[in-house]
Amino acid sequence: MECEGRTSRLDRERVERLGSPLARRVELYAEVPSTQERAKELAREGAPHGTLVVAGVQTGGRGRLGRAWSSPAGGLWMSLVLRPEIPATHAPRITLAAAVGVAKALREMGVEAEIKWPNDLLVGGRKVCGILAEAGFGRSGGLEFAVLGVGINANVDPASVEGLGGTSLRAELGREVDLVRLLAAVLGGLEVELARLNDFEAIASDWRLLSCTLGRRVRVRRAGGVVEGLAVDLGPDGELVLETGDGRVALFEGEVERLR
Ligand code: BTN
Repeated sequence: MECEGRTSRLDRERVERLGSPLARRVELYAEVPSTQERAKELAREGAPHGTLVVAGVQTGGRGRLGRAWSSPAGGLWMSLVLRPEIPATHAPRITLAAAVGVAKALREMGVEAEIKWPNDLLVGGRKVCGILAEAGFGRSGGLEFAVLGVGINANVDPASVEGLGGTSLRAELGREVDLVRLLAAVLGGLEVELARLNDFEAIASDWRLLSCTLGRRVRVRRAGGVVEGLAVDLGPDGELVLETGDGRVALFEGEVERLR
């Protein structure tokens, strides 16, 4: 099956020719409700590490915190089944590693992507990519699989994604990007970072360098309320450490807003 974007094409042959260990098995859809849901189904059925689901359009794309994710034609909408050999407690590292890997891939393509905690990728303060990692645990509590979803606003109109806060690679670069080349760069970046999940400091130190959250005053809205402070560090489980008037606070979820 082939997926026609505007001028870019995602076709099975070119994707399979990438030879990436993260594209060992590929499902390519012109349109699917959500690559994330499809990849989770495959993972539960025992699909191997490196099973990739990609779609030209998603009709029910999902984002973090249960939000909808707009996925029109021209974007790169993909989910990967991963079976990393790490303790379940290290699962949050997958998200951080993915943000670093995709940010580096986008930089290779010529856009100065930065990471907004926890794992949004921004260019010039506007969101260009969202990452959603979900874990499946076995009966004994071990990590059985993770499904890593990456949504990149590649050749899309910024107005059609993320309301006013979004941008796209095409808008930033002033030209269409080849979706298969983009996919190759993303898989390459992910492969490198996922191979070092056991070296948290290496991932965290690249994350810190690529972050646009650390060193800023921020307001974080989360289930437990709103917290304000200076973002000072990334903790060992991916938590954002804030210096507040009442001391240091570690946040494990929430939506960050930068304050002036
Ligand atoms: C976020 O920033 O809220 C995360 C967005 C993740 C979107 C991707 S697109 C591919 C995969 N399929 C989905 O339904 N969601 C993820």
